[in-house]
Amino acid sequence: MTKEDLHSCSVHLSDDERAVVLLDQTKLPNKTEYLTLTKAEEIYDAIKVLAVRGAPAIGICAGYAMYVLAQRAEASSYGELCERLHKDGEYLISSRPTAVNLSWAVGRMLAVLDGASDKSVDEVIALLREEAYAIQLEDIEMCRKIAEYGLSLLKPGDTFLTHCNAGPLATSKYGTAIGPAFLAKERGIDIKVFSDETRPLLQGARLTSYELQKAGIDVTLICDNMASIVMKNGWIQACFVGCDRIAANGDFANKIGTSGVAILAKHYGIPFYTLGPRSTIDMNCPTGADIKIEQRNPNEIKEMWYKEPMALPEVKCYNPAFDVTDHELLTAIVTDKGIVYPPFDVNLKKIMEED
Ligand code: MRU
Repeated sequence: MTKEDLHSCSVHLSDDERAVVLLDQTKLPNKTEYLTLTKAEEIYDAIKVLAVRGAPAIGICAGYAMYVLAQRAEASSYGELCERLHKDGEYLISSRPTAVNLSWAVGRMLAVLDGASDKSVDEVIALLREEAYAIQLEDIEMCRKIAEYGLSLLKPGDTFLTHCNAGPLATSKYGTAIGPAFLAKERGIDIKVFSDETRPLLQGARLTSYELQKAGIDVTLICDNMASIVMKNGWIQACFVGCDRIAANGDFANKIGTSGVAILAKHYGIPFYTLGPRSTIDMNCPTGADIKIEQRNPNEIKEMWYKEPMALPEVKCYNPAFDVTDHELLTAIVTDKGIVYPPFDVNLKKIMEED
């Protein structure tokens, strides 16, 4: 993997490695702009406003952020570096609660830090650099494997429906849920995609249809409330969605509206899969009821996408960013270690124990 390859990812390091560079996903599809961030507060804000989003991309961003912040701390001792980075890590984790990849990546960086008490500050920073790159390189590898397993569930000519964005923008390459479509394209296999626009933040319209269209993949954009009719018409052979946290029993959180798609798929007898790396599986979270769901600003519903507000300012809004899909609605979980079928509590444990 060359530096150029990494620089083509939505999250990467600047040339001098003293800043995190993000493709600003809030501006897509109309503008391609990058943010160059050096401070914990800037990175926190970028995660919060979804300039960087998608569970794996947030994790990669957090890894690089910890490396950049370690260099910029200019700590004179190991103890000082530890204190600064533990504080920064905690702060970054508090930016978004649902995607486990954020705390997972910060945890990995802190574990390297905590295990290096016998090293000089420069040596610790070198180890953090290695770990941050490893998080991204592993993600590329995992996404490729997920795409392979996902594609094995489809036959040429199939169409799958997806919700939100779990493509290269949300990871580093291929993506998870729509990775099989990119791989199919590489291999000249005809796979089509229906993309829910994904209210309220429109990641399906702004990001999924953008990435697929640009790659020359056959994509059709629909409003979220059109999923039922395209299923009923017999146009959908599978549903592939991403995940932000998979609990030990197979319940999983993903972008709001995912559970509705799963319920529809069950009604129409369409297989429903979530695709994600093992970094999204949280064995410390017993069930979906234990997943903290992020609540977001009501203005995302009322006014963010319109020339004029679409509701009275005093109207109450409920704006959860994610919902939990019950494991009973899931046909299987597609991971980098293979396709996991029920019983999920037993089989997830098995793949998490593998190397
Ligand atoms: O709020 P977002 O845009 O970060 O939500 C993203 C999703 O729900 C994705 O499906 C999930 O993070 C998986 S991305 C590979």
